[in-house]
Amino acid sequence: MPTAATAASPALGQLDAADQRFGWHPFTQMREYQDNPRLHLVRGEGSWLIDGEGKRYLDGNASVWTNVHGHNDPDLNRALKDQLEKVAHVTLLGLNHPIATELAKDLAGLTDGALPRCFFTDNGSNAVEVALKLSFQYWQLVGQEAKHGVISMEGAYHGDTFGTMSVGERSEFHRRFNPWLFAAQAFPAPTHSECAGKVARSDTSASLTALKALLERDAATTACVILEPRVQGAAGMVQQPAGFVKAVAALCHQYGVHLILDEVFTGFGRLGALTVSELEGVVPDFLCLAKGLAAGYLPLAATLTSEKIYEAFLGAFSEGKTFFHGHTFSGNPLGCAVARESLRKLKPMLASGQVADRASHLGREMEAAFAGHAHVRTFRQLGLTGSVEFKPAHAERWPTDTRAGYRVALAARRHGLVIRPLGDSILFVPPISIQPDEVKHLVRAVRLAMDDVLPSLKAD
Ligand SMILES: Cc1ncc(COP(=O)(O)O)c(C=O)c1O
Repeated sequence: MPTAATAASPALGQLDAADQRFGWHPFTQMREYQDNPRLHLVRGEGSWLIDGEGKRYLDGNASVWTNVHGHNDPDLNRALKDQLEKVAHVTLLGLNHPIATELAKDLAGLTDGALPRCFFTDNGSNAVEVALKLSFQYWQLVGQEAKHGVISMEGAYHGDTFGTMSVGERSEFHRRFNPWLFAAQAFPAPTHSECAGKVARSDTSASLTALKALLERDAATTACVILEPRVQGAAGMVQQPAGFVKAVAALCHQYGVHLILDEVFTGFGRLGALTVSELEGVVPDFLCLAKGLAAGYLPLAATLTSEKIYEAFLGAFSEGKTFFHGHTFSGNPLGCAVARESLRKLKPMLASGQVADRASHLGREMEAAFAGHAHVRTFRQLGLTGSVEFKPAHAERWPTDTRAGYRVALAARRHGLVIRPLGDSILFVPPISIQPDEVKHLVRAVRLAMDDVLPSLKAD
């Protein structure tokens, strides 16, 4: 039963009623959605989203991890409008438009030209799907058909298409689809020894040893290893220690399997550099980009790869080497125009050290708010990513339907924050351009919401 009213004005009331009647929201239990206050966001300014009544909410999840320069950025708006005056969409299927070429050239610079070939799509799942398919087809084209397996890391999330679900953790999100998923192997993520809530030490050896053992046994039947480098976002901002990605890359190289780095989440400033590949000094065989690529403005994704892999696909049409994959809006010109402008602005922002300062500030605020809190099981932060996991004060956990994270996220709205829960956790993913007072507001609003909600939840 829809019990909650969000609407103070007739127009908002109509919008709310229509949403309930016609809407079906992604990753949302619609019964829960209908039974709780809805929020209709109508405008954005910088790090803030504004509802139909003019109330302001800090965008604490950067509109699902996409937003780089804030909402309604004048430079991005101008780039978008300029392109709109030229043309809104041209297919890349056998045709071209100049802004796609310009952006592909810019993206080649991310790896100093090591991955000069850019295959555009329109979302993160597709960027990964393309990398998997290119790897799979490549080994066939070079006469090594047996190399078709995939190894991923436990806890991975690479998207919601069947290919990406197959190589991700078989979590509750995707378990129902198991019968339709293809087989893939997984190696354990590095384990962490925790100290006062923050990750203090990591034991990578068990993880790398397991990967090495899999490769030793199965390299001849393995096409690729796929990894979210440094931080597994959807697993709850689970970190790998510095140097881990490099060690994985070295093993892939040693055993002759491709490395796919899924930087859909970590790319474009999230961890203080344009990519983790750059931070870690690693060149994968495939680099997957989406989310922040077009700064949270438009759906755009890209899979970058090497000239060597590209060349394997060249031949007469009758040789059947063509890569038969493409999406209607692959490399949309509006998205490309915004992406170019975003990159132009982001590079000096990163070089100035501002993003690193914001990240340390976030870490300090989280430490002050969550260390030693009776309802905090653990919290962690790296770059502009963070998570805090809750627990009952005197029991192991709450019943599943208590929905502690969801309750805290709802309460955070009263404190001027929109943020996403994950189970009994809250995930911190602000816009890269977040300002110091906004970092303070972000953490404070979560702390206030926790203190409003958690003490009254009944544990098992
Ligand atoms: C690491 C990673 N890969 C892939 C995806 C899928 O991206 P999209 O939702 O654009 O399909 C996500 C989305 O959260 C992600 O975090």
